[in-house]
Amino acid sequence: MGAVETTRPAAASIPAAAAASVPAVSGALAEWLGRVERREARIGIIGLGYVGLPLALLFSEERFRVTGFDVDPSKVEMLNAGASYIHRIEPEHIRSAQAQGFGATADFAEIAAMDAVLICVPTPLNDHRAPDMSYIVATVESIAPHLRSGQLVVLESTTYPGTTEEIVVPILERSGKTKVLRGGGDPADGVMVAFSPEREDPGNTSVARRDIPKVVGGVDACATAAAAALYGAIFRRVVTVSSPAAAEMTKLLENIYRSVNIALVNELKLLSLRMGIDIWEVIEAASTKPFGFQAFYPGPGLGGHCIPIDPFYLSWKAKEFDFSTRFIELAGEVNEAMPAHVVQSVASALNGHKKPLNGSKVLVLGLAYKRDVDDLRESPALTIIELLQREGAEVSYNDPFFPTVGRGRKYHLDMTSAPLDDLSGYDCVLIVTDHSSYDYADIVERSQLVVDSRNATRGNPSPKIVRC
Ligand SMILES: NC(=O)c1ccc[n+]([C@@H]2O[C@H](COP(=O)([O-])OP(=O)(O)OC[C@H]3O[C@@H](n4cnc5c(N)ncnc54)[C@H](O)[C@@H]3O)[C@@H](O)[C@H]2O)c1
Repeated sequence: MGAVETTRPAAASIPAAAAASVPAVSGALAEWLGRVERREARIGIIGLGYVGLPLALLFSEERFRVTGFDVDPSKVEMLNAGASYIHRIEPEHIRSAQAQGFGATADFAEIAAMDAVLICVPTPLNDHRAPDMSYIVATVESIAPHLRSGQLVVLESTTYPGTTEEIVVPILERSGKTKVLRGGGDPADGVMVAFSPEREDPGNTSVARRDIPKVVGGVDACATAAAAALYGAIFRRVVTVSSPAAAEMTKLLENIYRSVNIALVNELKLLSLRMGIDIWEVIEAASTKPFGFQAFYPGPGLGGHCIPIDPFYLSWKAKEFDFSTRFIELAGEVNEAMPAHVVQSVASALNGHKKPLNGSKVLVLGLAYKRDVDDLRESPALTIIELLQREGAEVSYNDPFFPTVGRGRKYHLDMTSAPLDDLSGYDCVLIVTDHSSYDYADIVERSQLVVDSRNATRGNPSPKIVRC
């Protein structure tokens, strides 16, 4: 079965492909779909982070009663107090969701009251760069004792193909509370299970979240139908695929495509620098081709919870099939070398001013992994700071999103954001993240030397600028 699209309004209708393999809409499935249609279905979202919280708010906007589950008591407390911990989510948004019945809890017994349970917990890599499935396992183990027939469980966390059927379903079945529907039967007989990847793009204001098509793959046709109807209520387009593994692989293809193309453009940037060609000008010119080219941009290295990590979920799984994912490994190698390239560029720019990196004062502008987001995860700025410090530089940073930065999973910086009032006091200002709130012309004007890894100073002819 190929991917099949449905377009809103499809709220509680079954997508064509799924309908074809559901012999008849049974009483229990019809009742389930009706609850979605009438907004009576209760939605539980597990993991109220960058993905889960916006998803909860989207369901609330569509008049669903949503309960958020999180093991972090501070998040539960803040949400129940009507506050937000994500920069782009205004407290008013939380409060309007509360008016719609939204609440947060750490008590998993409430799972029993939900019609749908959507899992949005982290999927990082462990110290050996292998998938860390502990969050998914812990979550599924927490919900299993509270499940009942008629519920839909959807995993949204990015993961390798096979996770839903090899990890989620067996844990649910081990609990013995209810069986998982696997073809045949209807929601009265068991729990429906599906995978639906999250395509959230933090900071992207050009596409509304509900306009991003939602891919869904159920363990059986009944689960696909239920999940497609549920997401059809909040997303304009739902695309069903034939299995959870196809949906899991879809997400990885999207992120590997980005990682490989970013690596390609990073490599071409390094060559262009040697050849005296402006890669940004080249990308702009190539982008005028109306077909067959999509622009990707070079930078100081990959960041965020997705692109630097997700491809390695597939590399890891591929080993089980004696398969080597060479593009993924090569892209990782090129992208991971970028922070060192930036540090080398700072060293040679300072050298041009007859200064050694050792002992120089360097201000890193922007810590977040990308423009205008309050997310530090895997940010190349953290690696760059560490490398600069290792070379003896006296490093400060400025980032309006992070007044202080302390202890992370890998970094212990314990630094405070420096004011921008005395830029001439730094030997070098290094642009790592091009937040839109910075006035780049003014920054260049007041600095001795600017190294720009983002082309934030494009068009500025100042000889103080070194683009890298
Ligand atoms: N952030 C993104 O832009 C993005 C985009 C697409 C996909 N994803 C994927 O979505 C998933 C979630 O990412 P995120 O960025 O929202 O992570 P996050 O760290 O922002 O949020 C995860 C939340 O889950 C909670 N949590 C952890 N273990 C839990 C448990 N056992 N029970 C309940 N709650 C638990 C954490 O306290 C946290 O609040 C990941 O798989 C990620 O790869 C993220």
